[in-house]
Amino acid sequence: DKPVAAGLGLGINVKEAQGVMIVDIGAETTEISVLSLGGIVISRLIQNGGRSIDDAIQSAIRKEFNFFIGSKTAEAIKKGLACAIEPDGSSMQICGRNMVVGLPQMMEITSEFVYEAIKEQLGIIMDAVKTILERTPPELGVDIIQNGIYLTGGSARIRNLDQLLQQKSGIRVTVDEEPEMSVAKGLARVMVDRDFRSLAFVTKEQKYE
Ligand SMILES: Nc1ncnc2c1ncn2[C@@H]1O[C@H](COP(=O)(O)OP(=O)(O)OP(=O)(O)O)[C@@H](O)[C@H]1O
Ligand SMILES: [Mg+2]
Repeated sequence: DKPVAAGLGLGINVKEAQGVMIVDIGAETTEISVLSLGGIVISRLIQNGGRSIDDAIQSAIRKEFNFFIGSKTAEAIKKGLACAIEPDGSSMQICGRNMVVGLPQMMEITSEFVYEAIKEQLGIIMDAVKTILERTPPELGVDIIQNGIYLTGGSARIRNLDQLLQQKSGIRVTVDEEPEMSVAKGLARVMVDRDFRSLAFVTKEQKYE
């Protein structure tokens, strides 16, 4: 299972841990999972992630400035300027098409603008985490509070996203240094590490929703 692999990649001993929460914010989706003793207890997949954040930036720029940018540009803006808490006052020159005159142009985009544009998408992800925490059995919840929440996936690189999640959940958040690699690293560990090999054949009952 992907969340179990992610947990291993994060260096968590998922086989022993009573309660671990992993929030994997990828490109197309966000997967929020609670693991216990190597199996998935609760997992929820929502269709929000890096891509929907890019789309939000693209449509905010179109609406506000009548300026069309491609999705690659939107992603570059996100990587350059997006932050989840306080925008830092930085800005960027971007290329696009002025839709009024129909010509290519440059314009400046600020981190404040991007912050406002992506707020709603980040909020949806935060709310989904809260919902899962509310549905987590209390005995596991206590363990999650002690272990903290593990934030992973490429979109975990959005600046201060860990802090936002920490504020919203009241639980300490740990981010992997190479968040897009957690699943791959975990799979490698399953293959190499005898101790974890049994996890490759997990047959525990799972509750997906
Ligand atoms: N520095 C960065 N800042 C913000 N977002 C980033 C950064 N680097 C990568 N991303 C985003 O991370 C996402 C890719 O993450 P990841 O590789 O975990 O996705 P994936 O596993 O391929 O997708 P999914 O899990 O949805 O199938 C992309 O949306 C990308 O824009
Ligand atoms: Mg992924």
